[in-house]
Amino acid sequence: EKQGFKHFMLKEIHEQPGVVRASLDAYFNPAESTESPINLGLPADLYNDLEQIQILACGTSWHAALIGKYLIEQLAEISTQVHYASEYRYAPSPVTANTLIIGVTQSGETADTLAALTMEKERRQGREPKYQARLLGITNRPESSLGHLVPHVISTLAGIEIGVAATKTFTAQLMAFYALALDLAARRQTVSKDTLDKIINGLRQIPKEIEATLESQERLTEQLAHEFAETQDFIFVGRGINFPIALEGALKLKEISYIHAEGYPAGEMKHGPIALLDAKVPVVAIAIPGSVYEKVISNAQEAKARDSRLIGVTPVNDGEAAEIFNDLLPISHVEELLSPILTVVPLQLLAYHIAARRGLDVDQPRNLAKSVTVE
Ligand code: M6R
Repeated sequence: EKQGFKHFMLKEIHEQPGVVRASLDAYFNPAESTESPINLGLPADLYNDLEQIQILACGTSWHAALIGKYLIEQLAEISTQVHYASEYRYAPSPVTANTLIIGVTQSGETADTLAALTMEKERRQGREPKYQARLLGITNRPESSLGHLVPHVISTLAGIEIGVAATKTFTAQLMAFYALALDLAARRQTVSKDTLDKIINGLRQIPKEIEATLESQERLTEQLAHEFAETQDFIFVGRGINFPIALEGALKLKEISYIHAEGYPAGEMKHGPIALLDAKVPVVAIAIPGSVYEKVISNAQEAKARDSRLIGVTPVNDGEAAEIFNDLLPISHVEELLSPILTVVPLQLLAYHIAARRGLDVDQPRNLAKSVTVE
């Protein structure tokens, strides 16, 4: 049931505050007398002596994995690689010791992801124990094929998602990665208890911040959709933890509105893609105060000098940001580390409203299926 929303995708975008709440209740609810404030129900031997993590995924799940890598490396200091499952199968990394392999798939049925995990499991069988696969799945459907393939699962708590474009399952995957990275960090004592508490308290504020964003953005994104419904190319830029959100914003727009869009790390624009820019190519820039804010603003300035219309996803509405952006999609002030859960929301809405404005079948875009069970 669409519960009064025009499409399932819009309903699912609006369900995200609830998804974050459910994840907080489930994961951030520690068993007594453990050193970690997180409880994912995973055994200690999955974490012991961990030297490396390989994450295998496709599409939006791959974007969530990139944010997972950022969180795990920055918080828990474990070297982490993210691979497209379809590529990894034919060119896997060398077998390393004490390696955790994580498959991320909301459906649990993506053929490429299942095949890459199976290959990783088989080629490590019979090796010394430290080389054997430690396998973990992150899925919205623990009863799926993935659930049967791997011994341990973090269930994401999005509920059923009907729209082919992943929205709330992405947010649920992000929550799983926050919990995993913080759990690893707590066990390895790579961040102080104060910092952990601060991050967890910040996460607890996120549901109401998403609600505020949804409320303020619905009209703004609809207006922008009106102006951009016939645009042919879009560029999305971000840096650091928001680079994967630029990729995700571009993917959402491509798959449901059929508009060509690319996501780039803002600093890479000058190495080629800047040649694409002119007044016909709008640039959406994610600019969150923190480690890369000034850099993103100066990259945005470079785009503006090529006459691109600039749309800023930012909590800042004065100073340079107010001057440089032609349009603002404002979000609440939020710690950079937590910002992707908020910055993705206006991009989902923008893609949705552009596709709806173009009269397209938002929930069932052409050529796509909800689970891709062929390799
Ligand atoms: O079920 P999965 O998470 O394994 O699906 C992976 C991709 O097929 C999926 O994320 C796809 O890119 C979506 N249509 C994105 O909106």
